[in-house]
Amino acid sequence: MDPVLTSHVREAGSTTVDAFLRRGGYEGLRKALGMAPAHVIDTVKASGLRGRGGAGFPTGLKWQFVPKDSPTPKYLCCNADESEPGTFKDHVLMERNPHLLFEGCLIGCYAIGAKAAYIYIRGEFYHVQRVLEAEIEAARARGYIGKNIFGSGFDCEIYVHRGAGAYEAGEESALLESLEGKRAQPRLRPPFPAVVGLYGCPTAINNVETLCSVPSILTNGPEWFAALGPEKNGGPKLYCISGHVEKPGVYEASMHVTLRELIDGCAGGVRGGRPLKAIIPGGSSTPVILPDQLDAQASFDGLVKAGSMLGSAALIVMDDTTCMVWLAENLLHFYRHESCGKCTPCREGTDWLTKILHRIEHGEGSMRDIDLLQDVATNIGGKTLCPFGDAAVAPVLSTIQHFRSEYEAHVREGRCTCPSDWRVMD
Ligand SMILES: Cc1cc2nc3c(=O)[nH]c(=O)nc-3n(C[C@H](O)[C@H](O)[C@H](O)COP(=O)(O)O)c2cc1C
Ligand code: SF4
Repeated sequence: MDPVLTSHVREAGSTTVDAFLRRGGYEGLRKALGMAPAHVIDTVKASGLRGRGGAGFPTGLKWQFVPKDSPTPKYLCCNADESEPGTFKDHVLMERNPHLLFEGCLIGCYAIGAKAAYIYIRGEFYHVQRVLEAEIEAARARGYIGKNIFGSGFDCEIYVHRGAGAYEAGEESALLESLEGKRAQPRLRPPFPAVVGLYGCPTAINNVETLCSVPSILTNGPEWFAALGPEKNGGPKLYCISGHVEKPGVYEASMHVTLRELIDGCAGGVRGGRPLKAIIPGGSSTPVILPDQLDAQASFDGLVKAGSMLGSAALIVMDDTTCMVWLAENLLHFYRHESCGKCTPCREGTDWLTKILHRIEHGEGSMRDIDLLQDVATNIGGKTLCPFGDAAVAPVLSTIQHFRSEYEAHVREGRCTCPSDWRVMD
């Protein structure tokens, strides 16, 4: 598949509005503005575009949920928080193809009847914020952002808001709280953001890659987009590949691609030709799977069949030197730190899990600790205010499921039994 989202990202000067216009930029917006907003939504629905932020919810349907008639303003929020471990695709799009994101935001705003889009960007991405703000000015100077875009009567502004750098701020309702100047803690739902969102007004929240996928649907047609991938998994897709591979990076492919093709073909195979031990296919919130799933399709539906999820399409590849207890402890350290603390099972449970994992990993655990881990994790999953709780327990439950013997060996031998030559033991 020829790259759609990343075709020019390696070329010098690819970020400018002139370069974007030379490759047909803002044509999707021009087309959209010649259509009725409802027709734009129908076109996105027909393409089958599913959100690239993790859950894979159909974008057109999400836009349709925003009420047509609203006495208050409506908003579109672009989720550019990108804090999931292993995930580093959205910042490439923003840094190297910012006008594609603006075009997607403007089309989304037109479709739902909003006059403003907020790009909520992760706190650490200050260099990307500078690119976005400079290019917003350049687009405004050309009349693509602001009043009466393309003489259509459509007015729309785009604002960049930098968060303080919290994983939980990427959860959509926590993002809205943060945008309103409050702590990034989730809201109770219903009501959902489509009806009561930013400042209590109807709001659509979409991931960066999702919005960047929209212009090509308008320019090339929904059928073209759908045909790029398997049924219900259409369009181009960015994969972040990290861990023990020769060439980690962001790769664009159709969702026909398999995990094997991504790891061996794109990323050059496992580092040093070592045996593959496990894969996290969709960012740290998705369950670990084994090499026997290498031929699974790396699509939303393919990875569910394989026992995991596409999530943010962040493949973390692990060779045989990786200790699975260490992996779980490392990730729980992250989740414990990032829990927003609003609900007890997550706040207390992530701390508890971290302590038990630390005991086992450092040779001080008991066999009972392994069952306790499972018990505590099971009492967090599905019992929290937001999906963070499920994300936090995925590494614990899936490593126990597939590598229980490794946990038991830690307890029996009082030490790690992996060939962990690269790890610093403390
Ligand atoms: C803890 C947590 C963190 C999240 N972080 C992000 C993020 O950084 N970027 C993102 O697009 N979605 C993130 N999501 C998913 C969003 O809540 C939401 O589903 C997504 O932005 C919707 O956009 P989409 O429909 O385009 O995928 C996160 C969800 C959770 C529970
Ligand atoms: S699950 Fe965790 S992150 Fe989500 S609301 Fe509860 S405490 Fe906060």
